[in-house]
Amino acid sequence: MKELDFYEEIGNWDFSQIKYETEKLTDWDFYERIKKYTDKNSVCLDLGTGAGEKLLAKYPNVRLVIGTDYSDAMLRGAKINLEKSGRKDVRFAKMDNLQITLPDELLDLISARHTVIDAKQLYKSLRKGGIVVIQGVEKLDCQELKEMFKRGQAYKDKVAISQLDYEQLVNAGFEIVEKKEVLENEYFETKEDLLALLLKTPILDDFSEIEENNYGKKSIEMNILDEYIKKNTTEKGILLKRVLYGIVAVKR
Ligand SMILES: C[S@@+](CC[C@H](N)C(=O)[O-])C[C@H]1O[C@@H](n2cnc3c(N)ncnc32)[C@H](O)[C@@H]1O
Repeated sequence: MKELDFYEEIGNWDFSQIKYETEKLTDWDFYERIKKYTDKNSVCLDLGTGAGEKLLAKYPNVRLVIGTDYSDAMLRGAKINLEKSGRKDVRFAKMDNLQITLPDELLDLISARHTVIDAKQLYKSLRKGGIVVIQGVEKLDCQELKEMFKRGQAYKDKVAISQLDYEQLVNAGFEIVEKKEVLENEYFETKEDLLALLLKTPILDDFSEIEENNYGKKSIEMNILDEYIKKNTTEKGILLKRVLYGIVAVKR
């Protein structure tokens, strides 16, 4: 419930105000993969879609993609964003990723970007030959920053989340098509831009580490942040090393 409260308070997953550039170091791209496995007849589900910002901007044109989220605040934003986008192939609905309520074997593809999955539920919702595309945050994401603050997302995890997803998918009956480490360098224009990212995301404050009733009042030790910035300021901006993972799996 802590995580739901966190997203309810934010109500969007929009980073367009933050000035930063992304440099891709590997060639795996979540939306390119979705494009590869869909066409104009595909029926898709995008789990934990947030306010649909990325789906509306980057999903290929398909017959129907349903973006779902368990946060009412996110869905309110998604409906406004949908109207602005003019897309006719997108619908948004409230649903818990862990309790998929769509008919079995309906979907051609399920996508999940930075959100929780239940592989068995995915398996039952996909038709034979259906595809799952996942992108997640790896244990070593922003590692130098997390080491300096001695906390953060997945910092204390014993097993990498990518490994858990992989095992879950295999145990549910999926054949793994690929599992890739996805490396990106992000360069932030100013300290304020990096700070805005850290205040908005759980990079430094995993859900388990936020005190009850302290959402939106996160505090960050500025002396440590200054030290990180001193070490990581480059010609391109303040460097943050992102370590993500991508998985594609198929229901045979
Ligand atoms: C990090 S955001 C990612 C949003 C979007 N997928 C993207 O990549 O921009 C995670 C989203 O997953 C949603 N979420 C987390 N757990 C969920 C669950 N069990 N069921 C449905 N939505 C969930 C949150 O409300 C939030 O909108």
